[in-house]
Amino acid sequence: MKLLITGGAGFIGSHVVRLFVTKYPEYQIYNLDKLTYAGNLANLSDIEHAPNYTFIKGDITDAKFIDDMFAELAFDGVIHLAAESHVDRSITDPMSFVMTNVVGTVNLLNAAKNTWAAGASGFDGKRFYHVSTDEVYGSLHNPDEFFTEETAYDPQSPYSASKAASDHFVRAYGNTYKLPVVLSNCSNNYGPNHFPEKLIPLMIHNIQTNKPLPVYGKGENVRDWLFVVDHARAIDAVFHNGRLGETYNIGGFNEWKNIDLVHLLCEIMDRKLGRPKGTSAQLITYVTDRAGHDLRYAIDAHKIMNELGWQPSLQFEQGLEKTVDWFLENQEWLDNVTSGNYQKYYESMYANR
Ligand code: NAD
Ligand code: DAU
Repeated sequence: MKLLITGGAGFIGSHVVRLFVTKYPEYQIYNLDKLTYAGNLANLSDIEHAPNYTFIKGDITDAKFIDDMFAELAFDGVIHLAAESHVDRSITDPMSFVMTNVVGTVNLLNAAKNTWAAGASGFDGKRFYHVSTDEVYGSLHNPDEFFTEETAYDPQSPYSASKAASDHFVRAYGNTYKLPVVLSNCSNNYGPNHFPEKLIPLMIHNIQTNKPLPVYGKGENVRDWLFVVDHARAIDAVFHNGRLGETYNIGGFNEWKNIDLVHLLCEIMDRKLGRPKGTSAQLITYVTDRAGHDLRYAIDAHKIMNELGWQPSLQFEQGLEKTVDWFLENQEWLDNVTSGNYQKYYESMYANR
């Protein structure tokens, strides 16, 4: 198995690459990543010398580069995670989301389709797995509702619109060209290596450095949190055993209002940093709401649980403790990603192919 994983230097991708490199030593794993501000190879320093691992620096928006790479390396499978992933950035710069998330995905679909169709065994044994998000379903307002695989798409932000478009293209290639595709839509991930522009790592960093904790609006928005390693385990299950043409929703049945989550983080951090109870919560600052802010996401994950036997392995409080510990023990990682030092370092080290 020659497996291409895109976006493997990012938050979720690095956990997926690590899982596959260590669990499947017989696979050759190729990690293709542009190394944007969000991706850095320090996330993978523990496995970078593994004999079944190769890093390729490149941009999925470059169709010729993608075609040439497929022709040269003849992958058997693709797990596609590369994306622009931050909703706030999509509000200020939607076009980079269209380019990477939509155009980049179609470039990969074309390369897979054309290379596989031209090979001796055609699409037999091949698999294109597209990793997506619950945000494509829009926002829930009724507390009894959950997103199922049948929920109609209703994306509300430029980010979720770009991911919805990419999902549609993947299904269209499955339907039109019979490309062997499978998809999953996951809820909010958290854990080690989470880029500190996202809620949980940003709050941990700001508590540690005594900066304001910016809570958007009234902090009433609800997210369904899943430990990143559990998402990587779900991706393993879907890639190997998911039925072709199907979609699997992945989530932790773990809903939290933002403000309650921030209070929980404050309590954990006060304890870890030896500060009197209530110290960190004083940093909470309500700020202008995100434009078009989705109220609630909640995933019904019964299909993947029943069909593929997957379930989350960690309770949220355990996962959050682990995450806080990781950030406190990896101050150098945090300093290097926030200063942009990793990006400069790895840019100079790896020329584009
Ligand atoms: P991330 O922003 O941490 O990582 C994205 C990676 O993609 C980075 O390493 C970046 O360098 C790379 N990349 C970006 N543009 C590229 C390009 N043009 N060519 C090649 N590589 C490029 O994102 P993440 O949070 O790890 O999310 C990974 C995937 O999972 C995304 O598709 C995202 O939509 C999806 N997802 C994320 C979450 C979440 O909570 N973070 C939840 C569900 C689904
Ligand atoms: O649901 C899956 C999605 O989860 C993924 O597809 C996205 O890639 C990922 O970024 C994440 O999107 P969110 O917008 O939900 O995550 P974020 O961490 O940016 O925000 C979580 C919630 O916290 C959201 O309601 C906005 C709020 N928030 C966020 C930030 C950064 C704040 O209140 N303050 C903040 O400073």
